[in-house]
Amino acid sequence: KETLIVDCDTGIDDALALLYLLRDPGVDIRAVTSVFGNTDVETAADNTLRVLELAGRTDIPVAIGARSNWRGSTHPAPHVHGGNGLGEVGLPAASAKPVREPAAELIVRLARENPGELHLLAVGPLTNLATALLLEPGLPGLVKHVTIMGGAVHHPGNVTPAAEANIHNDPEAARMVLAAGWDVTLVPLDVTMTEVITEELAGRLRAEGSSCAGFAAGILTHYLDFYEREVFGERGAACHDPLAAAIAVGDVDAELAPTVVVDVETGDGPGRGATIADTRGKYRGFPGVEGARVRVVLKTDGTFPQRLTERLCGPSGAG
Ligand code: BDR
Ligand code: CA
Repeated sequence: KETLIVDCDTGIDDALALLYLLRDPGVDIRAVTSVFGNTDVETAADNTLRVLELAGRTDIPVAIGARSNWRGSTHPAPHVHGGNGLGEVGLPAASAKPVREPAAELIVRLARENPGELHLLAVGPLTNLATALLLEPGLPGLVKHVTIMGGAVHHPGNVTPAAEANIHNDPEAARMVLAAGWDVTLVPLDVTMTEVITEELAGRLRAEGSSCAGFAAGILTHYLDFYEREVFGERGAACHDPLAAAIAVGDVDAELAPTVVVDVETGDGPGRGATIADTRGKYRGFPGVEGARVRVVLKTDGTFPQRLTERLCGPSGAG
């Protein structure tokens, strides 16, 4: 179905995205690259290895990427994802270690070895993808597609009034990645905030009894606590990264998504990290980012959390 490299800052919803993909036998994950974001980059890689081991996939290489953005700053989110990035749920230590090859180099190498085949799914800050573009300016011609969870088009931001976390963590990288001239699908808060996993669905996972469903229910408890306390005032949590994963592999229809120019605010004012999308087609490109034509998913039907729950409750490796 798709041959993926997943670039992530694992993270509760990153972990759910990985499990969602790993349980689809049609999806071929060639590598997972880690980036700072929800946690520091080593913890993100370690969490990824633990999740892969839970899914029985110690064969998938995990590479460590950027420790911070190009300014040297990070904004970890322990209040959302827990101090360990996985809602304080302790998965057994992984037997596998990260590979020695840095994330950006691995992305470039696999793209050169598999021209036109790889789909990059980025669900963390875009620093690794931007670094890969600097290493190989021809990368857009080697990659089939890029799907990004990030941005807030008409929706408020989630870390500032204007900015979504993944873009805000490295706006310069995001601006470069969106303008690189490859086929990009952007999955912003406008849709991820409408695909809400409820306490009832989490209860189904809890009742299921398998290690995968039990882990998902465990990490969701922390996530639902955060969303109840700070976002919705009731128990429901946004499926950011799993939704982007599902769109990347064609499980959620995004056919009607408009293709528009998207720029990123990189100034130091209150708009830093905002995604500014020309959804009315007025500007025909902003100076410097004429190439940033991006398919932006602005509507999905709200049924994805059910599909996610069924996937995580179903037999491993079954679509
Ligand atoms: C995004 O930021 C991270 O906290 C989540 O894992 C997701 O990728 C949501 O804004
Ligand atoms: Ca993420």
